[in-house]
Amino acid sequence: MEDPLGLRPLKEITLTERIVDPEDVPWVPYTDTIWVKPLRLNRKTGQWTNITKVVGGGQINRHYHVNGVVGFVLEGSWYYVEKDWVARKGMMVWEPPGDIHTLMSGEEGTVTLFQLEGALLYVDEDDQVVGFDDVLNHTRVYHDYCRSQGTRPLDLDY
Ligand SMILES: [Fe+2]
Repeated sequence: MEDPLGLRPLKEITLTERIVDPEDVPWVPYTDTIWVKPLRLNRKTGQWTNITKVVGGGQINRHYHVNGVVGFVLEGSWYYVEKDWVARKGMMVWEPPGDIHTLMSGEEGTVTLFQLEGALLYVDEDDQVVGFDDVLNHTRVYHDYCRSQGTRPLDLDY
């Protein structure tokens, strides 16, 4: 068979796909009301993907996104205190860079897939930065938690 576009040699330099079963990843506790299952922690690009679980009425404190975020609601619902809509099971939300919001889970709690890039900066009511989350501190928290449980973290750095 001919290979007029020269695709065959590219197979040798193509990376291997990655399959991550969330069942193989623990719920890593973040606060009394938030748990996170990391699925991707790419330290080269700063991209990180996780499933976030928030109990009913729990909140993710007010924060600023340096880059855009995509969320897909797997269970329950949540909303932003600063907005007038509710993200329910099966809905996708895109948050633009620079968006500032406070996530509140619905009464039934929520489980949501988030795809992030770069940092989110926690800010107070005056928009002063008081903390941050990014791929590096999420990697550290995941690794520390696995160590505390006597388990080996998966390599999610892809
Ligand atoms: Fe956010």
